[in-house]
Amino acid sequence: EWTPAAFVDTTVQELKDKLGNDKVVLGLSGGVDSTVAAILLHKAIGKNLFCIFVNNGLLRKNEFDSVLDQYKHMGLNVKGVDASERFLKALELKTDPEEKRKAIGNAFIEVFDDEAHLVEDVHWLAQGTIYPDVIESVSVNGPSVTIKSHHNVGGLPDFMKLKVVEPLRMLFKDEVRRVGKEMGIDPELLGRHPFPGPGLAIRILGDITAEKVRILQEVDAIFIDGLRKWGLYDKVWQAGAILLPVNSVGVMGDERTYEKVVALRAVESTDGMTADWVNLPYEFLQETSNNIINRVKGVNRVVYDISSKPPATIEWE
Ligand code: XMP
Repeated sequence: EWTPAAFVDTTVQELKDKLGNDKVVLGLSGGVDSTVAAILLHKAIGKNLFCIFVNNGLLRKNEFDSVLDQYKHMGLNVKGVDASERFLKALELKTDPEEKRKAIGNAFIEVFDDEAHLVEDVHWLAQGTIYPDVIESVSVNGPSVTIKSHHNVGGLPDFMKLKVVEPLRMLFKDEVRRVGKEMGIDPELLGRHPFPGPGLAIRILGDITAEKVRILQEVDAIFIDGLRKWGLYDKVWQAGAILLPVNSVGVMGDERTYEKVVALRAVESTDGMTADWVNLPYEFLQETSNNIINRVKGVNRVVYDISSKPPATIEWE
């Protein structure tokens, strides 16, 4: 029978045997998977684990600083690297979803590679890949049909020449959370919704600008804080806001406005492979919509996404 305690014991021992005295680099994303992978490795090899947390400028509002702080408190050997400008530049004028993913993936690899080179004598790259990532990249994003290329899965550029270690490769998300809980990771961090590697870039349809990122961060924060306040956060598997590439007409006082539309998305799921939209209370949607429109300059309309996966996907890009 599978238990988190047994998984931790076995995996820590396996990692010790496999890695010995070798140094390992790992990219932390702020998400559950990379965090749990890091803590497992930290248990196994301690200071030989070098964590790198890159700010791509596409994270949620305030997330980089607060999560970096949290990692430090967990005793991880972690370096925060603010590469926001570099990512924005790489994304400039890109509108195609897959091109955006590629640009972000490449920028990430460059930044990560620069940082990994600063660690002397490193032999391994650790990743928080989980089972659904493995299957999606094989069967969905395989050679014949590419739906979405998850940039954090699969081939490394040759120049990195690191061996890969993926301790969560056989686990589903709920198992990863149980393993994290077993190791004493903060329940709030473990309960965080999944967040895509390319971040807000795939929730801003069309091209990305610093101003659009700022707008979406504000909207997203109001939505997510509202879910927490209403006790709905943990009832939802994943939620977020999408900035649409259209303006719509509105009215404010005596003035006609012509401003952005945002969509809110909240889904129930167990592993992201299928998902149902969540029937959020109208009162909650009403309050959230008012808060967004009143507080976020540049947005005059809020819509709620009532599509399930399939045939829609969770993200809009
Ligand atoms: P979709 O949109 O394919 O999303 O229904 C399924 C789950 O995967 C996340 N997602 C990504 N995660 N890189 C990631 O690391 C990506 O490019 C990416 N695209 C989608 C999405 O947030 C959802 O949890």
